[in-house]
Amino acid sequence: MKVLAVLYNGFKAAIEEPRLLGTVENKLGMDKWLASRGHEFVVTSSKDGPKSDFEKHIVDAEVLITTPFHPGYLTRELMEKAKNLKICITAGVGSDHIDLNAAVDHKIQVLEVSGSNVTSVAEHAVMSMLLLVRNFVPAHEMIERGDWQVSDIARNAFDIEGKTIGTIGAGRIGYRIMQRLLPFNPKELLYYDYHEIPPEAESAVNCNRVGTVEELVSQCDIVTVNCPLHEGTRGMINDHLLSTFKPGAWLVNTARGAICDEHAVARALASGQLRGYAGDVWNVQPAPKDHPWRSMKNPLGGGNGMVPHYSGTTLDAQARYAAGTRSILQNYLDGKPQVHQNVIVGTGKYETTSYGIH
Ligand SMILES: NC(=O)c1ccc[n+]([C@@H]2O[C@H](COP(=O)([O-])OP(=O)(O)OC[C@H]3O[C@@H](n4cnc5c(N)ncnc54)[C@H](O)[C@@H]3O)[C@@H](O)[C@H]2O)c1
Repeated sequence: MKVLAVLYNGFKAAIEEPRLLGTVENKLGMDKWLASRGHEFVVTSSKDGPKSDFEKHIVDAEVLITTPFHPGYLTRELMEKAKNLKICITAGVGSDHIDLNAAVDHKIQVLEVSGSNVTSVAEHAVMSMLLLVRNFVPAHEMIERGDWQVSDIARNAFDIEGKTIGTIGAGRIGYRIMQRLLPFNPKELLYYDYHEIPPEAESAVNCNRVGTVEELVSQCDIVTVNCPLHEGTRGMINDHLLSTFKPGAWLVNTARGAICDEHAVARALASGQLRGYAGDVWNVQPAPKDHPWRSMKNPLGGGNGMVPHYSGTTLDAQARYAAGTRSILQNYLDGKPQVHQNVIVGTGKYETTSYGIH
């Protein structure tokens, strides 16, 4: 059996740090195990275009392993060429780089390691709120430059305490963010999700549900995006929705870059309609050198908290998603049932209701 994995190159770091399991070099720690079972394991970072290893090997692979950090985009067209493909495993959380509707049609299962990095992402989202609201990045840059002018930083620095904060999507990550924000004494925690949080969980974080995304963003000082990318969320944060935000709000998106219109966000930041934007996810990964989110700024020269996609790939998270990927593959090889919460698309149908209601 051929198992194809598309991972990112770790280069020197991966050789020096074997816990960088999600890299081409360290192969999710699965190469010896798969070889001992007699399987062919092809691991590559070459993922884009007809000459890529991905397109070359997908034609006869039975198992595809990808990560959201260096996504191998499995389109409907590629799926049609992938005659042997039975199962796609996402080493991590978020399988939007696989055409899920096409996977349903082709009876290809899609699984992810649910929960494996949700705490890692929740921590990053809270950190991003803090660094935006407290105007941290320009303050640090000032220090590196050798300057010292407190008023230039303090004129745009605030506290999280007393702010209204809302999450679009209140699943594993969205809920964990609210749990972590509670001790900061926000004025109010709000969420918008078509799934209702159970009443006891809602009262544990003292949050309130609102009926529409517009209702959420118009009330919030800080908005955070924590829903998957699917037909109903692609481009959701566009010029129109941004115009309904409270002027000067902060936006944190560690979910998926394409949920936001990249140019609309850059425009809103430049005009001051957004005071800040932070996150680690981009509509194209790796992001091109001239991507507007690399250099966009608010009118005071700050408000950009963008980093490469790494919030969910801390070393702690890598240990969890590597183990989870192996256990999904082991179940597949042994013909055992999968843990239901990991199944995004089962054979011929969606098993999750997180990617829109199907
Ligand atoms: N940056 C990273 O490294 C990283 C890591 C893990 C996950 N993620 C992203 O975060 C997403 C959420 O992860 P999770 O574990 O919390 O998933 P989850 O399935 O537990 O929760 C997602 C929630 O979003 C809700 N939702 C779906 N569509 C919505 C919409 N249109 N409006 C409002 N809510 C909607 C769902 O009902 C669900 O409650 C993932 O799909 C992935 O894209 C990013």
